[in-house]
Amino acid sequence: MKKLFALIAAMVPALAIAAGGSNIHLDEHKTDLYDKASLQRGAQVYMNYCMGCHSLEHSRYNRVAKDLDIPEELMMENLVFPDTKIGSLMTNAMRPEDGKVWFGATPPDLTLVARVRRPDWLYTYLRSFYEDPSRPWGVNNAVFKDVGMPHVLAGLQGRQVKGTAQVAVGYDTLTGQEITEEKDGVLYLAEEGTLTPKEYDRLVFDLVNFLTYVAEPIAVERQRLGWWVLLFLAIFFVPVYMLNKEFWRDVK
Ligand code: HEC
Repeated sequence: MKKLFALIAAMVPALAIAAGGSNIHLDEHKTDLYDKASLQRGAQVYMNYCMGCHSLEHSRYNRVAKDLDIPEELMMENLVFPDTKIGSLMTNAMRPEDGKVWFGATPPDLTLVARVRRPDWLYTYLRSFYEDPSRPWGVNNAVFKDVGMPHVLAGLQGRQVKGTAQVAVGYDTLTGQEITEEKDGVLYLAEEGTLTPKEYDRLVFDLVNFLTYVAEPIAVERQRLGWWVLLFLAIFFVPVYMLNKEFWRDVK
């Protein structure tokens, strides 16, 4: 028992780190693994903007195509690098040594990142890059200090900066008007990109949805199976209960 407590105590800080630090506010990601259209869009964004640096080496193209209802020809034409087979693992051509020299850190494989970092963290991270001229790529990140990754979605999101801005803190209960307060150290958009803030949030939502799917492709199947198991147990309970009554009838 003591050992068990020691183990749990040892895990607490690890979980806190996995959650990305304790005092940073994370925006909630309402993951929806049943929304195939969202997962398909997420896969497309991933292949276009992330795959060059981050592999998904525990996943295969044909598995993703099957799970997300993407016809294999479409997948091959649009989402798979040339000279790659549909049954291949989703690796990329970047050598880890090069990544380390170019970015100061090797871009990690992201197959399991949604399990390690959690969807809320990812959703916040990808929306929290801000301009910082002191950094090699001119950007820093509010949830990942001094990150080595450039803001590859900056063209879509626009220029986000950190500074003083009016922030909504609530609503006036009488008039229904928004109450704002000037706050320092907040992120705000200095210039819109090709997407509106709402569209950008949607795109990141889809991307994180896809990463959550990749981290556990069996999740939907597991849940579906779970209902059948519960149904089986419920039905099985009836004969077992009757049998139990039958066995004990003469004993009592
Ligand atoms: C130009 C290369 C490059 C591209 C493209 C890129 N990244 Fe990164 N990414 C990096 C590097 C380098 C790191 C490691 C940063 C560090 O450790 O400081 C990183 C780190 C990350 C991390 C943190 C991983 C962890 O747990 O520490 C996540 C999540 C991530 N990237 C997601 C993405 C997503 C999603 C995309 C596509 C929108 C993307 N990246 C595109 C280079 C890239």
